[in-house]
Amino acid sequence: MNRFEYRQNALYCEDIKLEDLAKKYGTPLYVYSKNMIIDKFKAADAAFGSTDHIICYAMKANANLEILRLMASLGAGGDVVSGGELYLALKAGIPANKIVYASVGKTDEEIQFALESGIRAFNIESEPELQVVNDIARQLGKKAPAAIRVNPDIDVHGHPYISTGKSINKFGIDIEAAFDVFKKADSMSGIDVMGVHCHIGSQILNLDYFDATAKKLFDFVTKLKNSGINIHHIDIGGGLGVHYPDVIPEFSEEKTEVPPPAQLAEIVLNVLKPLNCEIVFEPGRSIVGEAGLLIGRVNYVKFSRDTKFIVVDAGMNDLIRPSLYQAYHQIVPLNKTDGKLERADVVGPICETGDFLAKDRNLPPVQRGDYLAMMTAGAYGYALASNYNSRPRPAEIWVDGDRDELIREREKVEDWTR
Ligand SMILES: Cc1ncc(COP(=O)(O)O)c(C=O)c1O
Repeated sequence: MNRFEYRQNALYCEDIKLEDLAKKYGTPLYVYSKNMIIDKFKAADAAFGSTDHIICYAMKANANLEILRLMASLGAGGDVVSGGELYLALKAGIPANKIVYASVGKTDEEIQFALESGIRAFNIESEPELQVVNDIARQLGKKAPAAIRVNPDIDVHGHPYISTGKSINKFGIDIEAAFDVFKKADSMSGIDVMGVHCHIGSQILNLDYFDATAKKLFDFVTKLKNSGINIHHIDIGGGLGVHYPDVIPEFSEEKTEVPPPAQLAEIVLNVLKPLNCEIVFEPGRSIVGEAGLLIGRVNYVKFSRDTKFIVVDAGMNDLIRPSLYQAYHQIVPLNKTDGKLERADVVGPICETGDFLAKDRNLPPVQRGDYLAMMTAGAYGYALASNYNSRPRPAEIWVDGDRDELIREREKVEDWTR
């Protein structure tokens, strides 16, 4: 359920008027609907029904500690990709035995930390990494629980930077070569082979790709089982897409069809269920993406010969997705007016031509002091924010019904001189 809507021309998050939050906390400001995050998590969990499964929230999408604590309270596990994420997940109360750890570049220190923490499984990305994990586990007198990430060579036809399942991508081990690596892993005294891992990319809206992946995994796991390698779980990664252009229907320029997690689960279970393995699902974007927005204040409206520029106080350092992935975020005013829509670029204050939030977009007339919301910014928004141009990162707020709570303070320049 969408928790962002207009009431008497003012945009609300749950029962709070967003303009009030912008005034109370300042801008740029990330705002999340707590109940939408809860709804999204519950839908992902319910999608797999009574099948033995665990939802490991991909915290790279948004690692705010309060959001992680919420995940822990809902029974989520965590998908981490660094020692820092593992530290935060544990601090938030996600039990170690619900944490899986992927990354093509795990350091020795990170591997040791994960082993000592007692994580559920390493998602091993290469043969050299397998050897290092085995060596470190043996030195510590432990066995490392491990899934091996296979690369199924499936093209999800998304943005090349967020496609991970093609053979040209750096992730995982070619599924054609992976059988021998499993056999080697199975013979290693520091490795406990637990499962198979696969993640083909992000913002995937066509479920055929999950179907094709599941079929490759079915054949592969069947071969492993037939050769006597016991596979406890199949980790299908994350990757389910969200609505970007049409969150607020009144300002839609195009429509997308976003399949619910139940459809994804049905397709995957239809193929994998006969293997009787636990299913691990690692959603990130589909849990938090639609539940967050970024508010920017209009500071200037300027015209060049051909273009109207709306200059807001949020820039590519706050939300880099448009610059980095040419991503589309719907942009809407916090207060709706009747003026005629005009084409405009929405840009930030950063000294880069690539600093834009939207290009050539139909927007209502705005003036200095008005606020705009960049919708669907809950995933890979704050998580990718930086201090570029020496700009403090924004504050984060969440809304629960008619209550708002600061869940991360705005950074201060003084923080950097520590
Ligand atoms: C291994 C792995 N799992 C899960 C995810 C989460 O993907 P998404 O946010 O699209 O659900 C990612 C993101 O790239 C990933 O690399």
